[in-house]
Amino acid sequence: MSILPNLGDGKMTVPDLIQRKSLGAVNPSNKKITCLTAYDYPTARLMDEAGVDIVLVGDSVSMVALGYDNTLPLTLEEALHHTKAVRRGVQRALLVADMPYGTYHGEIHESLRNAMRFVKEAGAEAVKVEGGERRLELIARLTEAEIPVMGHVGLTPQSVNTLGGYRVQGKTPATAEQLLRDARSVESAGAFAIVLEAIPRELAAEITRSVRVPTIGIGAGPDCDGQVLVLHDMLGLTFQEAPKFARRYANVGEIISNAVRSYCADVQSGNFPSDAESYHAPSSLKGRKTIPIAR
Ligand code: KIV
Repeated sequence: MSILPNLGDGKMTVPDLIQRKSLGAVNPSNKKITCLTAYDYPTARLMDEAGVDIVLVGDSVSMVALGYDNTLPLTLEEALHHTKAVRRGVQRALLVADMPYGTYHGEIHESLRNAMRFVKEAGAEAVKVEGGERRLELIARLTEAEIPVMGHVGLTPQSVNTLGGYRVQGKTPATAEQLLRDARSVESAGAFAIVLEAIPRELAAEITRSVRVPTIGIGAGPDCDGQVLVLHDMLGLTFQEAPKFARRYANVGEIISNAVRSYCADVQSGNFPSDAESYHAPSSLKGRKTIPIAR
């Protein structure tokens, strides 16, 4: 092959991310991996230009942008639609698409076909699937089919009905052992990174030490190889109370509400639009009683 995969243009790739972890073992000051969710073109473009490493089209789109109660109703077509929009905004970051509930839980060949749609039709560079040991075969088959897979263990929101709610996982010795086994299985099946969600910091640190691929934490403490947040949580653009790990970096919800209130007040008072915000007739037309309307 005559084309080098990385020409130093700053494009983030799966091998770059894995290397970040191995370099971190030699030089602990090596940079942590940053990941955020995006569901549309403008936010994807803004975060790509701001330098995030991974843009995840999370199935959180279901609740955050589509208003469903949880992630379960999201369809394959909806997820593809959002991934395509995000693809148009991302140039540098690695683009990962979450596979919705029900699109990888049945026959392997159907799961493979669904995952391939994210790559072929929507331009995703990797897919994310939730679950540990029970996803071994699936992750191995996706990897064999040249689809890089990001694993996701701990609190897996698609299991909300099985778990009985959104609770911190791995708090007993037995469940912590299981999560360690889950993370190792996901790695051995070929995943290139593993999201660790809502588990004790100490367990996340142990898992991070035990696997060679990067761990990306959300509610899993600072010792993971990287961090992910739902963008709308960090921007104050959600309607429920945000979880305690979701640091708020801005209150965009308040900015939007204030801007809309000001706009309504300006329209009603006649303050908007001003003369400067209006188009004007050319001087040749000034003085005419009626201005002809183009048809
Ligand atoms: O759907 C999502 O946003 C996610 C992240 C929270 C990891 O899975």
